[in-house]
Amino acid sequence: MEKYVINGGNALHGEVEISGAKNAAVAIIPATVLAQDICVIENVPNISDVSILFQILRDLGANVRYLAKNTVEIDTRNIREPVVPYESARHLRASYYFLGAFLGRFGEAHVSPPGGCNFGVRPIDQHIKGFEALGATVTTDYGFINAQSDEMFGAHIYLDVVSVGATVNIMLAAVRAKGLTILENAAKEPHIVDLANFLNSMGADIRGAGTDVIKIHGVDIMHGTNYPIIPDQIEAGTYMTIAAATGGDVLIKNVIPKHLEAITDKLIQAGCEIEEYDDSIRVRRTGVLNKTNVKTLPHPGFPTDMQPQMTTLLSIAQGTSIVTEGVWDNRFKYVDELHRMGAKIQVDGKVAVVEGVEQLSGAQVKALDLRAGVALVQAALSAKGTSEIEDIHWVERGYEDLIGKLQKIGADIKKVTIPDGAFAKNA
Ligand code: EPU
Repeated sequence: MEKYVINGGNALHGEVEISGAKNAAVAIIPATVLAQDICVIENVPNISDVSILFQILRDLGANVRYLAKNTVEIDTRNIREPVVPYESARHLRASYYFLGAFLGRFGEAHVSPPGGCNFGVRPIDQHIKGFEALGATVTTDYGFINAQSDEMFGAHIYLDVVSVGATVNIMLAAVRAKGLTILENAAKEPHIVDLANFLNSMGADIRGAGTDVIKIHGVDIMHGTNYPIIPDQIEAGTYMTIAAATGGDVLIKNVIPKHLEAITDKLIQAGCEIEEYDDSIRVRRTGVLNKTNVKTLPHPGFPTDMQPQMTTLLSIAQGTSIVTEGVWDNRFKYVDELHRMGAKIQVDGKVAVVEGVEQLSGAQVKALDLRAGVALVQAALSAKGTSEIEDIHWVERGYEDLIGKLQKIGADIKKVTIPDGAFAKNA
């Protein structure tokens, strides 16, 4: 078992380089299956979710090899069986993107229900509605979601809720359906646009990604491509709130400032100074943090994947802030961990009332999911004293070289291995 040990209280200064976007990578990697050819993907983040997807591809018979640190060649020509078993699928949410990708390539998919962060119920009814509209039959039995279709045809699909996953999965299947698919009330996140650009570079014909109506003309053949993944909006946002929380001054490089507007706006309201450049953004805080209210919404609203980091930041702002979670039913579980560090936050369902305290104090805490885990890292960096954060495998799912990047800007953080059973031996 590993944990982070953090001595807090240092204002962080310097430069951080942002990696490729996790949520684009986890859609693009399964999408390579559609090519039956060789794809070279650049700017691939080195995180455990990506390693798991590569292992799934290898188990399927694909050849995956690194050409450089963040450049990967994927050859999917030898994949024969469109099956992802429980042991592989349970590790991450994005394993269900093989449903759409296999349907597109083989007209058949058998994928065990996915894992991922636990924010309450995570239904996939909209994915299934989309596949069925395209002509697939979808059943769940013997622990698998099975989708099958002799031939798929374009359809008019209206999503009942804005869903990133359903938008991705329907795009993956519809690129090979005959005729035109119109997907309405689609998700507009930057990673949706990135996936559409990737698929178009493979020969697909997708228009309108980034708006709420996506039009997909099915094509017969898709080919290999060479494609760089966009920078990670949420990793960048996380370093922005970390800079703000520690009263630091950090230049965050390799970002698309347009993708960060909702976060930038809130940080300005909270009293930070922000300078935007073409592909970098500087966040500085010299004065106190002010209260501000935040509601998470699908893009271009304030991202739910920044909610724990923002709530944690507001826990040390002057005054009382209200944070409303507008996407997930149960994304405030980490607040109990923040209480151990002295935060004053009351949660009622999807609303948190955050009464700012002057400073948090170090404590022993546990990461409960990816963003909740990184929010605790942020809390610990701004707190007085030492914190120990356990269950850091959650954080390593989505942040490349978190320790190295934080140390470079002056953080006192290290990863410590606790031998299994150490507690019992010492007790
Ligand atoms: N929903 C349904 N039915 C569906 C699908 C979704 O009711 O068939 C509901 C969900 O219950 C939720 C809302 O729609 O209330 C949005 O869910 P969405 O499908 O957009 O989420 P997701 O695709 O499962 C992705 C990201 C999450 C991020 C959400 C929202 C990936 C792999 N995951 O999840 O990222 O929170 O979109 O932006 O792209 C993270 O990176 O930490 C993370 C959790």
